[in-house]
Amino acid sequence: MSLLHGRTAFVSGGASGIGAGIAAALGEAGASVIVGDLLPSSAEAAEMRSVRLDVADAESVAAAFAGLDRLDILVNAAGIIRRAAEYDLDTFRQVLDVNLTGTMRLCTAARPLLARGGGAIVNIASMLSFFGGGLAPAYSASKGAVAQLTKSLAIGWAADGIRVNAVAPGWIATNLTQPLQDDAARAAAIVARTPLGRWGRPEDVAGAVVFLCSDAAAFITGVVLPVDGGYLVA
Ligand code: NAI
Repeated sequence: MSLLHGRTAFVSGGASGIGAGIAAALGEAGASVIVGDLLPSSAEAAEMRSVRLDVADAESVAAAFAGLDRLDILVNAAGIIRRAAEYDLDTFRQVLDVNLTGTMRLCTAARPLLARGGGAIVNIASMLSFFGGGLAPAYSASKGAVAQLTKSLAIGWAADGIRVNAVAPGWIATNLTQPLQDDAARAAAIVARTPLGRWGRPEDVAGAVVFLCSDAAAFITGVVLPVDGGYLVA
Protein backbone atom coordinates (compact mmCIF):
# COMPACT_ATOMS: atom_id res chain seq x y z
CA MET A 1 0.00 0.00 0.00
CA SER A 2 1.41 3.44 -0.86
CA LEU A 3 -1.45 5.78 0.10
CA LEU A 4 0.95 7.88 2.17
CA HIS A 5 4.16 7.35 0.24
CA GLY A 6 6.64 10.17 0.84
CA ARG A 7 4.70 11.68 3.77
CA THR A 8 6.13 12.28 7.23
CA ALA A 9 3.90 11.62 10.23
CA PHE A 10 4.19 12.35 13.96
CA VAL A 11 2.17 10.18 16.36
CA SER A 12 1.95 11.18 20.02
CA GLY A 13 1.27 8.30 22.38
CA GLY A 14 2.60 5.99 19.70
CA ALA A 15 4.47 3.63 22.02
CA SER A 16 1.37 1.73 23.14
CA GLY A 17 -2.15 0.67 22.25
CA ILE A 18 -4.07 2.68 19.67
CA GLY A 19 -1.17 5.06 18.95
CA ALA A 20 1.17 2.15 18.29
CA GLY A 21 -1.39 0.59 15.95
CA ILE A 22 -1.74 3.89 14.11
CA ALA A 23 2.03 4.37 13.83
CA ALA A 24 2.41 0.89 12.36
CA ALA A 25 -0.44 1.42 9.88
CA LEU A 26 0.89 4.81 8.73
CA GLY A 27 4.26 3.13 8.17
CA GLU A 28 2.64 0.30 6.20
CA ALA A 29 0.88 2.95 4.07
CA GLY A 30 4.27 4.36 3.11
CA ALA A 31 4.81 7.22 5.56
CA SER A 32 7.96 7.73 7.60
CA VAL A 33 6.81 7.92 11.19
CA ILE A 34 8.07 9.68 14.30
CA VAL A 35 6.65 8.28 17.52
CA GLY A 36 6.55 10.71 20.46
CA ASP A 37 5.81 9.23 23.87
CA LEU A 38 6.80 9.25 27.52
CA LEU A 39 7.78 5.62 26.97
CA PRO A 40 10.26 4.31 24.42
CA SER A 41 8.66 2.69 21.37
CA SER A 42 9.48 -0.94 20.66
CA ALA A 43 8.45 -0.68 17.00
CA GLU A 44 11.15 -1.76 14.59
CA ALA A 45 9.99 -0.56 11.20
CA ALA A 46 12.72 0.87 8.96
CA GLU A 47 10.99 4.22 8.50
CA MET A 48 10.13 4.75 12.16
CA ARG A 49 11.95 6.60 14.90
CA SER A 50 11.10 7.43 18.46
CA VAL A 51 11.50 10.63 20.50
CA ARG A 52 10.79 11.20 24.17
CA LEU A 53 7.78 13.49 24.53
CA ASP A 54 5.63 14.77 27.36
CA VAL A 55 2.64 16.49 25.76
CA ALA A 56 1.98 18.28 29.07
CA ASP A 57 5.38 20.02 28.91
CA ALA A 58 5.79 22.87 26.42
CA GLU A 59 9.60 22.53 26.38
CA SER A 60 9.38 18.83 25.66
CA VAL A 61 7.00 19.52 22.77
CA ALA A 62 9.30 22.21 21.37
CA ALA A 63 12.30 19.86 21.62
CA ALA A 64 10.43 17.04 19.86
CA PHE A 65 9.59 19.31 16.91
CA ALA A 66 12.94 21.13 16.77
CA GLY A 67 14.89 20.20 13.66
CA LEU A 68 11.89 18.76 11.82
CA ASP A 69 11.91 20.24 8.34
CA ARG A 70 8.89 18.42 7.02
CA LEU A 71 5.61 17.20 8.47
CA ASP A 72 2.49 16.12 6.62
CA ILE A 73 0.52 14.28 9.31
CA LEU A 74 -0.02 14.75 13.05
CA VAL A 75 -1.92 12.18 15.10
CA ASN A 76 -2.67 13.07 18.73
CA ALA A 77 -3.07 9.72 20.48
CA ALA A 78 -1.42 10.44 23.86
CA GLY A 79 -4.05 10.22 26.55
CA ILE A 80 -4.68 9.29 30.16
CA ILE A 81 -7.67 8.38 32.32
CA ARG A 82 -7.72 8.47 36.12
CA ARG A 83 -11.36 7.37 36.59
CA ALA A 84 -12.84 8.08 40.05
CA ALA A 85 -9.73 10.04 41.11
CA GLU A 86 -10.76 12.70 38.59
CA TYR A 87 -13.13 14.25 41.16
CA ASP A 88 -9.95 15.58 42.78
CA LEU A 89 -9.25 18.98 41.23
CA ASP A 90 -5.49 18.52 40.78
CA THR A 91 -6.12 15.23 38.99
CA PHE A 92 -8.87 16.86 36.93
CA ARG A 93 -6.41 19.55 35.80
CA GLN A 94 -3.73 16.96 34.99
CA VAL A 95 -6.06 14.93 32.75
CA LEU A 96 -7.19 18.07 30.90
CA ASP A 97 -3.58 19.16 30.50
CA VAL A 98 -2.60 15.90 28.78
CA ASN A 99 -5.73 15.05 26.79
CA LEU A 100 -6.95 18.50 25.74
CA THR A 101 -4.19 21.10 26.15
CA GLY A 102 -1.58 18.51 25.12
CA THR A 103 -3.47 18.02 21.87
CA MET A 104 -3.56 21.79 21.30
CA ARG A 105 0.16 22.10 22.17
CA LEU A 106 1.06 19.63 19.44
CA CYS A 107 -1.35 21.09 16.90
CA THR A 108 0.18 24.53 17.50
CA ALA A 109 3.75 23.23 17.26
CA ALA A 110 2.97 21.34 14.05
CA ARG A 111 0.95 24.04 12.31
CA PRO A 112 3.78 25.88 10.50
CA LEU A 113 5.14 22.62 9.09
CA LEU A 114 1.71 21.24 8.16
CA ALA A 115 0.80 24.51 6.42
CA ARG A 116 3.69 24.10 3.98
CA GLY A 117 2.20 21.11 2.25
CA GLY A 118 -1.51 20.88 3.02
CA GLY A 119 -1.20 18.63 6.05
CA ALA A 120 -3.67 16.55 8.03
CA ILE A 121 -4.31 16.29 11.76
CA VAL A 122 -6.23 13.43 13.36
CA ASN A 123 -7.15 13.74 17.03
CA ILE A 124 -8.32 10.80 19.12
CA ALA A 125 -11.70 11.56 20.66
CA SER A 126 -13.85 8.91 22.39
CA MET A 127 -17.36 7.59 22.99
CA LEU A 128 -17.07 9.92 26.00
CA SER A 129 -17.00 12.85 23.57
CA PHE A 130 -20.73 12.06 23.24
CA PHE A 131 -21.72 10.46 26.58
CA GLY A 132 -21.10 11.67 30.09
CA GLY A 133 -18.86 9.51 32.26
CA GLY A 134 -19.85 9.47 35.90
CA LEU A 135 -16.65 7.65 36.79
CA ALA A 136 -14.38 9.81 34.66
CA PRO A 137 -15.49 13.47 34.68
CA ALA A 138 -12.15 14.90 33.54
CA TYR A 139 -11.61 12.32 30.81
CA SER A 140 -15.15 12.91 29.48
CA ALA A 141 -14.77 16.69 29.61
CA SER A 142 -11.42 16.46 27.84
CA LYS A 143 -12.76 14.23 25.07
CA GLY A 144 -15.87 16.36 24.56
CA ALA A 145 -13.52 19.30 24.22
CA VAL A 146 -11.21 17.43 21.81
CA ALA A 147 -14.21 16.99 19.50
CA GLN A 148 -15.01 20.72 19.66
CA LEU A 149 -11.34 21.65 19.25
CA THR A 150 -11.22 19.47 16.14
CA LYS A 151 -14.17 21.31 14.59
CA SER A 152 -12.77 24.72 15.53
CA LEU A 153 -9.29 24.06 14.13
CA ALA A 154 -10.85 22.60 10.98
CA ILE A 155 -12.47 25.97 10.36
CA GLY A 156 -9.62 28.10 11.66
CA TRP A 157 -6.84 26.40 9.72
CA ALA A 158 -8.69 25.52 6.51
CA ALA A 159 -7.16 28.53 4.79
CA ASP A 160 -3.71 27.02 5.52
CA GLY A 161 -4.80 23.87 3.69
CA ILE A 162 -4.74 21.89 6.93
CA ARG A 163 -7.52 19.34 7.42
CA VAL A 164 -8.39 18.54 11.04
CA ASN A 165 -10.46 15.47 11.87
CA ALA A 166 -10.93 13.12 14.80
CA VAL A 167 -11.78 9.48 15.30
CA ALA A 168 -13.91 8.44 18.25
CA PRO A 169 -12.95 4.88 19.16
CA GLY A 170 -15.42 2.65 20.91
CA TRP A 171 -14.15 0.13 23.44
CA ILE A 172 -10.67 -0.91 22.33
CA ALA A 173 -8.61 -3.53 24.16
CA THR A 174 -5.52 -1.63 25.37
CA ASN A 175 -3.77 -0.85 28.68
CA LEU A 176 -6.17 2.07 29.18
CA THR A 177 -9.20 -0.22 29.30
CA GLN A 178 -7.52 -3.13 31.16
CA PRO A 179 -9.58 -2.54 34.34
CA LEU A 180 -12.78 -2.80 32.26
CA GLN A 181 -11.57 -5.89 30.44
CA ASP A 182 -10.77 -7.44 33.84
CA ASP A 183 -14.28 -6.73 35.15
CA ALA A 184 -16.17 -9.70 33.70
CA ALA A 185 -19.65 -8.15 34.09
CA ARG A 186 -18.61 -4.80 32.60
CA ALA A 187 -16.70 -6.45 29.74
CA ALA A 188 -19.69 -8.65 28.89
CA ALA A 189 -22.04 -5.65 28.95
CA ILE A 190 -19.79 -3.79 26.51
CA VAL A 191 -19.73 -6.69 24.06
CA ALA A 192 -23.50 -7.22 24.43
CA ARG A 193 -24.22 -3.60 23.50
CA THR A 194 -21.76 -3.51 20.58
CA PRO A 195 -23.60 -4.60 17.39
CA LEU A 196 -20.42 -6.07 15.91
CA GLY A 197 -20.16 -8.14 19.09
CA ARG A 198 -16.54 -7.74 20.17
CA TRP A 199 -13.94 -5.39 21.65
CA GLY A 200 -12.16 -3.23 19.10
CA ARG A 201 -8.48 -3.60 18.32
CA PRO A 202 -5.95 -0.80 17.71
CA GLU A 203 -5.80 -1.75 14.01
CA ASP A 204 -9.55 -1.12 13.72
CA VAL A 205 -8.90 2.52 14.61
CA ALA A 206 -5.74 2.74 12.51
CA GLY A 207 -7.54 2.07 9.22
CA ALA A 208 -9.82 5.06 9.74
CA VAL A 209 -6.84 7.26 10.62
CA VAL A 210 -4.92 6.23 7.48
CA PHE A 211 -7.98 7.10 5.41
CA LEU A 212 -8.45 10.51 7.04
CA CYS A 213 -4.76 11.33 6.49
CA SER A 214 -4.83 10.33 2.83
CA ASP A 215 -5.84 12.14 -0.33
CA ALA A 216 -8.95 9.92 -0.40
CA ALA A 217 -10.23 12.23 2.36
CA ALA A 218 -9.17 15.47 0.63
CA PHE A 219 -12.62 17.09 1.07
CA ILE A 220 -13.18 15.86 4.63
CA THR A 221 -12.45 18.18 7.55
CA GLY A 222 -14.02 18.72 10.95
CA VAL A 223 -15.55 15.27 11.30
CA VAL A 224 -15.51 13.15 14.44
CA LEU A 225 -15.71 9.63 13.02
CA PRO A 226 -16.89 6.91 15.39
CA VAL A 227 -14.95 3.64 15.09
CA ASP A 228 -17.00 1.69 17.57
CA GLY A 229 -18.54 -1.45 16.10
CA GLY A 230 -21.90 0.36 16.17
CA TYR A 231 -21.91 1.13 19.91
CA LEU A 232 -23.19 4.69 19.45
CA VAL A 233 -26.22 3.70 17.43
CA ALA A 234 -27.31 0.75 19.54
P1 NAI B 1 -2.55 3.40 26.15
O1 NAI B 1 -2.41 3.69 27.61
O2 NAI B 1 -2.22 2.04 25.64
O3 NAI B 1 -1.68 4.46 25.31
C1 NAI B 1 -1.56 5.80 25.68
C2 NAI B 1 -0.15 6.25 25.33
O4 NAI B 1 -0.05 7.65 25.64
C3 NAI B 1 0.92 5.53 26.17
O5 NAI B 1 1.96 5.06 25.33
C4 NAI B 1 1.41 6.61 27.12
O6 NAI B 1 2.79 6.47 27.49
C5 NAI B 1 1.19 7.86 26.28
N1 NAI B 1 1.12 9.05 27.10
C6 NAI B 1 0.39 9.25 28.22
N2 NAI B 1 0.64 10.47 28.72
C7 NAI B 1 1.52 11.07 27.89
C8 NAI B 1 2.17 12.33 27.89
N3 NAI B 1 1.97 13.24 28.86
N4 NAI B 1 3.01 12.62 26.87
C9 NAI B 1 3.25 11.70 25.88
N5 NAI B 1 2.68 10.48 25.85
C10 NAI B 1 1.83 10.17 26.85
O7 NAI B 1 -4.05 3.78 25.80
P2 NAI B 1 -4.88 3.73 24.44
O8 NAI B 1 -6.14 3.06 24.73
O9 NAI B 1 -4.06 3.28 23.31
O10 NAI B 1 -5.21 5.29 24.26
C11 NAI B 1 -4.78 6.05 23.14
C12 NAI B 1 -5.77 7.19 22.93
O11 NAI B 1 -7.03 6.63 22.57
C13 NAI B 1 -6.02 8.03 24.18
O12 NAI B 1 -6.19 9.38 23.80
C14 NAI B 1 -7.32 7.48 24.71
O13 NAI B 1 -8.02 8.43 25.45
C15 NAI B 1 -8.02 7.17 23.41
N6 NAI B 1 -9.13 6.25 23.49
C16 NAI B 1 -8.98 4.96 23.92
C17 NAI B 1 -10.07 4.12 23.95
C18 NAI B 1 -9.98 2.69 24.38
O14 NAI B 1 -11.02 2.03 24.47
N7 NAI B 1 -8.79 2.15 24.62
C19 NAI B 1 -11.40 4.56 23.55
C20 NAI B 1 -11.44 5.93 23.11
C21 NAI B 1 -10.35 6.73 23.09
